[in-house]
Amino acid sequence: MIAPLLAASSRADAPVVVELGPGTGAVTAALRAAVPELRYLGVELNPAMADHLAARFPGIDLVRGPASVLPQALAERGLREVDLVVSGLPWQAFAGSDGTALVSAIAAHLAPSGAHTQFTYRWSRWAPPGRRQHRELQRFFGHVDLSPTVWPNVPPAVVYTATLPRPDGV
Ligand SMILES: C[S@@+](CC[C@H](N)C(=O)[O-])C[C@H]1O[C@@H](n2cnc3c(N)ncnc32)[C@H](O)[C@@H]1O
Repeated sequence: MIAPLLAASSRADAPVVVELGPGTGAVTAALRAAVPELRYLGVELNPAMADHLAARFPGIDLVRGPASVLPQALAERGLREVDLVVSGLPWQAFAGSDGTALVSAIAAHLAPSGAHTQFTYRWSRWAPPGRRQHRELQRFFGHVDLSPTVWPNVPPAVVYTATLPRPDGV
C-alpha cells in the first residue's frame, strides 16, 4: 500500500492521499512516516475511532462520516485529484448501488497516474462480496493487480491496486 505512495511522491510535491476507514491509524502512521509532506485526508465512520485518530495525530484532516461523503469533502477542500486512495473499508461499504457509486467516485477523482488500493483478508477474496468487490474494481479501472499474500498480517491479507487506463489505452 505504501509503494504507490512512494511513486506518487516522486511526481508531486505533496501527494494527496485519501484514507478510507483509517481505524486505529496503523496505516496512517506508515503513510505519514513514508512521505511526511503528504496532503492527507481521512474518512472514518466510527466516532470512537475518529476520536482516537484525532488524539493520535493532532491536526489530522479527518472527516467523521461514511466514505460516500468523499466527493463533497474533496470539493470543500478544493482538492480536484487524489494521488493515492488507501481503503481498509469492509465489504458492507461496497454493497449495492451505494458501493458502486463509491467505486465510481474514487475512479473519477483519481489523478491519471494515481492508484486506489484496497486491503482485504486473504480468505475473503473468494466469498461472494469479495468477488463482487473485485468485479467492481475491474469495471471502473483499467488495471487491477493483486499483491502476494501478506502473511505477517493477522489474519493474512492481500491488497488490490487499481489504476486508470493509460492514455494509450494499454
Ligand atoms: C478494517 S478497519 C481499518 C483498519 C485500519 N487500517 C487500522 O489500522 O486499524 C475498517 C475501518 O473502516 C471503518 N468504516 C467502516 N465502514 C465505513 C464507511 N462506510 N465509511 C468510512 N469508514 C468506515 C471502520 O470504522 C473501521 O475503522
